[in-house]
Amino acid sequence: MVCHQLENKVEPIVGPSLVEISHIYKDNLKGYLKWCIEPGKKRKDVIQMPSMAHVGEKDLEAIYHWIMATTKGKKYTPPKETNFDPYMLTGDATKRPRIQRIFLPDTSPASIAVTIDGNHSLCWDTVSCRLRYIWIGGFIDGFPYWKSNGSSVAKLTGKVYYRSLPKLNSGFVSQNDEEPKFNGYNIIDSLPVFSYSIGSIEVTEAIQNKAGAITLHIKVTNAKSELKYQLGDLSETNLIHSNGRLENGVLILTAKEAASFKLTFQPKKIIK
Ligand code: HEM
Repeated sequence: MVCHQLENKVEPIVGPSLVEISHIYKDNLKGYLKWCIEPGKKRKDVIQMPSMAHVGEKDLEAIYHWIMATTKGKKYTPPKETNFDPYMLTGDATKRPRIQRIFLPDTSPASIAVTIDGNHSLCWDTVSCRLRYIWIGGFIDGFPYWKSNGSSVAKLTGKVYYRSLPKLNSGFVSQNDEEPKFNGYNIIDSLPVFSYSIGSIEVTEAIQNKAGAITLHIKVTNAKSELKYQLGDLSETNLIHSNGRLENGVLILTAKEAASFKLTFQPKKIIK
């Protein structure tokens, strides 16, 4: 009674239900006895059944007839295989912004996935303090992560069309090799505003939805001189920058221009 319930509503508590047992061993007393005396290892993710040899063949046979009688008329339906992210939203709920901490591919473990509308999404890395990549066509499928108990990464649903450079620490090129320091995030209009500092400069990066495009509204305080913001691979990206001049993938901004500027990202071609 501890290990075998009459019916398993969701998945086995320990072993298969009596209804499943009678489904497998109906008209096969011999096979049942063989299993009970010398159980094998059949199912994944369950313990091995201990041998019931001590019960004795006579009583095991009585148990067999009792199982068959008790489960008479009950139909066995195999549990549905779960192969989707149980936290994935469906329907209209997918169209709103979401922020999710989860292990993601090609970034530090302390990264955050954000979607502005369930279709256009980005990964922001809180270690290197920068936008890591942007994709379009969906958000994430966390199933590989949940299934592996955290030892695997979530899958991106859609296609990445922008990636920052892998080695650079921050979007802002630090003059004195200072490491960026993440200071947390606020949520405004359901989307995050990330805060970090590099040396004496303070930066906020607000993620915004501009008619389905991803905009980064960046504000820098305490900048004393010109700042360089290193952009990533733009070969598949249409980038609109509100301030500064773009030279070889680097946005050059005066301290005044850096105080408040916007970067808007769109894929170059419609990606399906
Ligand atoms: C007289 C008592 C028991 C009887 C008659 C019995 C019978 C069975 C049968 C017929 C199966 C199915 C084998 C198959 O799928 O071909 C099974 C599986 C299993 N039983 Fe029992 N069982 C008994 C006691 C227990 C106890 C006490 C436990 C827990 C400690 C247990 C745990 C399991 C588990 C985990 C499985 C699945 C094993 C696998 O698929 O690898 N059983 N049992």
